[in-house]
Amino acid sequence: MARWLIGLLPLVWLGFGVWQNTLGANPVERMIRYSGDWGLWWLLATLAIAPLRRLPGCAGLIRLRRLFGLLGFGYAALHVVFFITFEHFFSWSALFRDILKRPFITIGLLAFLLLLPLAVTSTPSWMRRLGPQWGRLHRLVYPASVLVVLHYFLMVKADYRLPILHAVILGGLLGWRGVR
Ligand code: HEM
Repeated sequence: MARWLIGLLPLVWLGFGVWQNTLGANPVERMIRYSGDWGLWWLLATLAIAPLRRLPGCAGLIRLRRLFGLLGFGYAALHVVFFITFEHFFSWSALFRDILKRPFITIGLLAFLLLLPLAVTSTPSWMRRLGPQWGRLHRLVYPASVLVVLHYFLMVKADYRLPILHAVILGGLLGWRGVR
């Protein structure tokens, strides 16, 4: 329970920013970007568990993997909800046009659709029901993370340093798996 609460601290911080009106000149953009960042960071943290748990004394980290994955999905879902609510005010036709017009939105949607079944099947009962298929299904987290970083790249217009940094971290985490 305490772990969940720690995972929700960024959300509390965001809520505090809204309440105190400290999100800057464009609070909507800040909210969308902040939730997107946390979605990506939790996904990277999820992927980092496998290499880190091999370090001496770190085997117990595996217990955090599901939590991190769900937090990643949760923040990503919030990011999408903020986008639909504040950028499109629930205008589904405008949203649909945006998906077709802006490739970074199309890619973001694809990433989100890949993450959706992972969140749904993250419970022990789904694990039992799917058996060995569960592990195979959950490998979708790799293409989903690649799409999220691509989404980030396509969104940025000038300064590519942060997307590059995230791509390098993701490349390291996926490369480690490839080598193993
Ligand atoms: C339907 C799906 C999605 C939509 C419509 C969407 C939309 C957006 C928008 C509008 C922005 C900000 C663009 C700007 O301010 O100029 C953004 C940025 C971003 N999104 Fe998404 N996104 C989606 C999926 C995702 C997912 C699944 C993740 C992560 C798990 C994600 C992570 C990010 C990141 C990291 C950024 C950059 C934040 C920054 O600049 O600091 N997005 N997205």
